Amino acid sequence: METIKLTEPEDTKEVNLKELLSERKTVRAFQNKAVPLDVLSYVLWSSYGFKKGGGRVVPSAGALYPLDIYVVMMQGVYHYLPDTHSLKLVKKGDLRNSIARASLSQMWMAQAPVMLIITVEYRRITGKYGDRGIRYALIEAGNVSQNIFLSTIYKGLGCGIVGAFHDDMVKDASGIEKTHEPLLIMPVGYSQQ
Ligand SMILES: Cc1cc2nc3c(=O)[nH]c(=O)nc-3n(C[C@H](O)[C@H](O)[C@H](O)COP(=O)(O)O)c2cc1C
Repeated sequence: METIKLTEPEDTKEVNLKELLSERKTVRAFQNKAVPLDVLSYVLWSSYGFKKGGGRVVPSAGALYPLDIYVVMMQGVYHYLPDTHSLKLVKKGDLRNSIARASLSQMWMAQAPVMLIITVEYRRITGKYGDRGIRYALIEAGNVSQNIFLSTIYKGLGCGIVGAFHDDMVKDASGIEKTHEPLLIMPVGYSQQ
């Protein structure tokens, strides 16, 4: 499918923030079990989604939002479009092995049914802030990644966080926009531990 409209993100249980934070850890072993689309929808909304009353779930210097989230799954690589809360296909096929190889052959990553790639397009923020915009974008990516950690735990999933990869190899393998630079890859799935 070229475009996937995601469902409204639904809360499914009550949890304490302290519980969620205490469960946060880097997961590096996953079950061979797909992540349902409604669960993925929740995690994506939590990563960079729009709130009902306006604004987004993470802060952004100058409200410029220089980041993007790409979703790597068995069927292909999709671009998350927060304004329509939907996924747009950018490349068909299972690229998880190639992306794991591009990540210094951290092959455990390819076990995960989903990988989220957080990318940055620096010109969206350096136009206003110059080089300091780089710092602001990286800080924002930290906010996004923590939201991904917490929302995956909330939905009974686990996730990893990977910064060790060859940028150009990840770009080539995943088919993300040329002006988007990968910052973090977060493998997501049901934890084996
Ligand atoms: C920016 C960043 C990059 C990281 N890159 C990798 C990585 O490439 N591979 C990996 O296995 N873990 C990576 N990690 C995870 C750390 O190894 C992990 O957070 C640390 O050992 C603490 O463990 P915990 O997250 O389970 O508390 C990275 C963490 C951060 C914040």
